[in-house]
Amino acid sequence: MKINLIETQPIAGQKPGTSGLRKKVPQFQAPHYLENFIQSIFNALPERVGSTLVLGGDGRYFNREASDIVIRMAAANGFGRVIVGQSGILSTPAASNLIRQRKTLGGIILSASHNPGGPQGDFGIKFNAANGGPAPESLTDAIFAETQKLTTYAIADLGPIDLDKIGITAFEGFTLEVTDSVEAYQALMQTLFDFDAIRALFASGFTLRFDALSAVTGPYALRIFEGLLGAAPGSVVNGVPLSDFGGHHPDPNPVNCHDLYDLAMSDAAPDLCAASDGDGDRNLIIGRGLFVTPSDSLAVLAANARLAPAYKGGLAGIARSMPTSAAADRVAEKRGLAMFETPTGWKFFGNLLDAGKVTICGEESAGTGSDHVREKDGLWAVLLWLNILAVRRESVADIVKAHWREFGRNYYARHDYEEVESAAADRLMLGLRERLGSLKGYRHGPLVVSGADDFAYRDPIDGSVSAHQGVRVMFEGGGRVVFRLSGTGTAGATLRVYLEHVEAGPALLDLDNHAALADLAAAAEAIAQITRLTGRDAPSVIT
Ligand code: G1P
Ligand code: ZN
Repeated sequence: MKINLIETQPIAGQKPGTSGLRKKVPQFQAPHYLENFIQSIFNALPERVGSTLVLGGDGRYFNREASDIVIRMAAANGFGRVIVGQSGILSTPAASNLIRQRKTLGGIILSASHNPGGPQGDFGIKFNAANGGPAPESLTDAIFAETQKLTTYAIADLGPIDLDKIGITAFEGFTLEVTDSVEAYQALMQTLFDFDAIRALFASGFTLRFDALSAVTGPYALRIFEGLLGAAPGSVVNGVPLSDFGGHHPDPNPVNCHDLYDLAMSDAAPDLCAASDGDGDRNLIIGRGLFVTPSDSLAVLAANARLAPAYKGGLAGIARSMPTSAAADRVAEKRGLAMFETPTGWKFFGNLLDAGKVTICGEESAGTGSDHVREKDGLWAVLLWLNILAVRRESVADIVKAHWREFGRNYYARHDYEEVESAAADRLMLGLRERLGSLKGYRHGPLVVSGADDFAYRDPIDGSVSAHQGVRVMFEGGGRVVFRLSGTGTAGATLRVYLEHVEAGPALLDLDNHAALADLAAAAEAIAQITRLTGRDAPSVIT
């Protein structure tokens, strides 16, 4: 094998964010940009020689070219084997599963998750460690440090590589294994859920619409829902992955999935509408006539998980990210389960899952998952809902409403202000942080601030501390507003404002969500001065 050492120099700004390095496609296509980052990952892994790497991506534009480069660089950097999904495709949870099942050193996932794709869209690279989960901050810091001192990268001449054909190709000192993208993941799902019960549910006339948004989950959903479980043909729509996601915005929220949402609210609504994002780790759940917020979905899944074989022994505990509503906390409290509140980003769940402290985790951003892999998992969430529906034989709306009656309801919304000028967003956050000590007792309309802080997290397993994870303003009565800046955007800054209002009284469980949060939204504006500082008088997206 001929190895070429290519001279390069550090490229500024290759700092991994909430979930890997994300930039516009043209930036990744610039000379050495991709190679520099891949070499920096490899340099941060001294134990790579002779080890195995998993590789796959969500099929977005540049996936194939990048896969080819990563394989040749892995060969040149001493990896013994690369296991790559057919055509370079693996959903993020499927990649996490392969890393764990095949006991590899880790994996590279080519994805910008829920960000739009296409030639002018976004691209991204994530490294997942041997536990199958996103690299911890210590490792992403080490990778970033490598990007700042890089002088050469190594890339091998392997001749043309065929990623479409399943099979094993041996090179001198290096093996390339092209594997079916779905098979191992599908087998894992069959160990977790009662497929017979779900088959019986579909056989009884239950209807599903799953929108794969022309992103990675199409092949998985077709094989599992229509193939194995007997959902009617046509239940999966937009099931062919396209490099620009067919123009769909691959973030599965009711705004982007308006066709699905409208269908779910119509007379023709199927029993369950669901969708996943670009790389298959997020999920959207809409029952007939009722959108289930991701925070509520986490709580309902946690409360009912015992109905699925994998969780019949009960849960060790539940974890949620800080901005996620406290609906799951009520389940934990009533059921005597441990509850953990972590910073935003799946990587913070890894240690808790590895240590067996929690079984189910979730984020308000449509991420739910369990200890079966170390990523959130969109299809897993849909399958757990199906398993619960197959056992309870009630509608999604009835299950959610019964849940509110038992546990109370956390009204919840996230207001995003996208592509705000970075300096303005920084000023806003700084202003909030400076006023933290003086906010207590502040009144706005009927609301009174009971406390405020800048969330910091001490990992209970390794003791690492992550500070400045978002400003929390708490109100008397249990309401809350959280302010933080996104770590996954690629243009300007995105300010996220999370609103939560708690009601336990039976008469107040069916309020309009927007109306229930109006006072909090007004208080958030008054406290943070969003309009004055950003020039925006309304959020760009409300989810
Ligand atoms: C967003 C979500 C966060 C999620 C991440 C990766 O990060 O808010 O919950 O883990 O995407 O999917 P953010 O842009 O807020 O930093
Ligand atoms: Zn994703």
